[in-house]
Amino acid sequence: MFKRIVEKDQNETFFNIEGARKYAKEAENSAKMRFRGFMNKLTTLDVEGRYLEIGAGTGTLATIIAKQNANIDITAIEVSTDMIIVGEEYIKENGVESQVRFVKGDIGSEGLLKSLGKFDLIYSTFSLHHWEDSKEMIENLMQYLNDDGVLLISDLKRVWWLHWVPVQNGLFKSIRAAYRPREIREMLDTIGVRKYEIENVFPFFMQNITIWR
Ligand SMILES: C[S@@+](CC[C@H](N)C(=O)[O-])C[C@H]1O[C@@H](n2cnc3c(N)ncnc32)[C@H](O)[C@@H]1O
Repeated sequence: MFKRIVEKDQNETFFNIEGARKYAKEAENSAKMRFRGFMNKLTTLDVEGRYLEIGAGTGTLATIIAKQNANIDITAIEVSTDMIIVGEEYIKENGVESQVRFVKGDIGSEGLLKSLGKFDLIYSTFSLHHWEDSKEMIENLMQYLNDDGVLLISDLKRVWWLHWVPVQNGLFKSIRAAYRPREIREMLDTIGVRKYEIENVFPFFMQNITIWR
């Protein structure tokens, strides 16, 4: 009852060029609402330096961040070639290609993170619920933070009032696949994370998870 439901076809729109273009358009059109909770938190954290984005999609958020602060350098990991093709066009159109660099790869694959060095901020939006082994992934990501680095994950939250809605679109599928705050807390406690914060984000089926190294 009210369990996570992770469907196989959740990623399908990310793996063809039409799907990637459609995603990019939607992300841009809804960027203000979509990234508001994340951006508010980012402003509070006030971290400068090297950023790593996980599951960067078509680069909408990386572009927003880069445009706000010229001292930030972003490495954007993305597994889908089509999302990267569209993303690279997007960062060029927005003139931030000197600050944002896409790297193709699966963050679960050994060696990828190792090859990129350490970061002041590692962040991810709307991607956690796609990760195969989230606990292991978070534990792994923490190793690539600088000493006072922060891991900021913003994702959907599985809420009972949306769980049972019989709608089959991508957002609802993703909500059914997302974690509840309690599950994240258990995950982080098992890993032994000393300092973290899980916050509700308006419109309340979203959450920010902040983890300090
Ligand atoms: C829902 S999209 C979110 C994109 C972007 N972060 C945003 O907020 O608009 C999830 C993205 O994560 C990528 N992704 C999923 N699993 C991944 C993995 N293991 N490694 C790298 N990227 C991954 C997908 O290809 C997709 O582009």
